[in-house]
Amino acid sequence: MNLDLIQKLKFEKDLSREEFLYLLYNQNDFKEKLFKEAKEVTKKHFTNKLYVRGLLEISNICKNNCYYCGIRCGNKNIKRYRLNSEEIIKSIIVGNHLGFKTFVLQGGEDPYYTDEILCEVLKEIKKIAPDAAITLSVGERSFDSYKNLKNAGADRFLLRHEAVDNELYYKLHPKEMSLENRKKCLFNLKKLGYQTGSGFMVGAPYQSYENIVEDLKFLKDLNPEMIGIGPFISQHDTDFQSFENGSVELTVFLIAILRLMFPSANLPSTTSLATLSENGRIMGINAGANVFMPNISPEFAKENYNLYDNKLYSKMESAKNLNNLKTSFKNLGYEIVMERGDFVPENHYEEI
Ligand code: 5AD
Repeated sequence: MNLDLIQKLKFEKDLSREEFLYLLYNQNDFKEKLFKEAKEVTKKHFTNKLYVRGLLEISNICKNNCYYCGIRCGNKNIKRYRLNSEEIIKSIIVGNHLGFKTFVLQGGEDPYYTDEILCEVLKEIKKIAPDAAITLSVGERSFDSYKNLKNAGADRFLLRHEAVDNELYYKLHPKEMSLENRKKCLFNLKKLGYQTGSGFMVGAPYQSYENIVEDLKFLKDLNPEMIGIGPFISQHDTDFQSFENGSVELTVFLIAILRLMFPSANLPSTTSLATLSENGRIMGINAGANVFMPNISPEFAKENYNLYDNKLYSKMESAKNLNNLKTSFKNLGYEIVMERGDFVPENHYEEI
């Protein structure tokens, strides 16, 4: 095995388990070539464009108790909040004025959000911003529920699989949760025609390179249109408070691998990456990420949506901030664009 592994990954968009493992155990030997190729592929598909999505954190109330997560139901030390329909719409109106063309509604699995409530909100958003894409990230629901939401206007759905190895999954989640159901939800979302996003944390407690390889293989199977990965960050009110944070270097190495596996997928440079390193966001982008998601939540929501410690707190309410962002990325060679940036299959242009 040698440097041709990167070439192989680029052309076949996949490797054997052994080959992926070899890459992970020998990152230093492959870094330079991997980043170079990932950058080239990103440029080919997205030129120098960076797509922004307005992220609205609608609720930190969650019925699940994922051991790593700061908003798990067992955490009695956080202030809970939820945005009602009106508050969601208010934030969307602000985001719409700023020019966002994608809105991501993310929250814990909060039973308050029945299909009825969410469908009404979706329809209202489509009235306010008919050309905008709506992404939901509200966890596991039934096939029929996903169908209702899709019919009411949801275009995309983010649901990280978190860990596909059974043993690891149940080290990170209580036994009341179900890996099988999570996978089923993801395939249902695909079946219903959502642009579907999945992903996992890098450096989660107990995670091995072997586990990561299984996650990559699962993603290949699912073939999602979006993939979000970010480093695990310990949260002081969880069982995992004394575990080490995930590695920024490994995260960006994996973003570059994902770019070669999924040339036209939308890959965000995540807030967790930006939280762990001052240069995290740009490192993710330089490795092949083409998306990032400024937070457009109201202040009280931002303050309390603490999945992990020291979460980067960005101010995005004003056009001035957005302009500053545009300028600073322009200086780095990227153009921030507000378009929807829907997933375009890789061979789209070759076929027509
Ligand atoms: N560190 C990093 N990411 C986390 N998430 C939840 N808790 C943490 C943490 N402690 C991620 C999960 C979830 C996404 C919204 O945030 O992967 O899917």
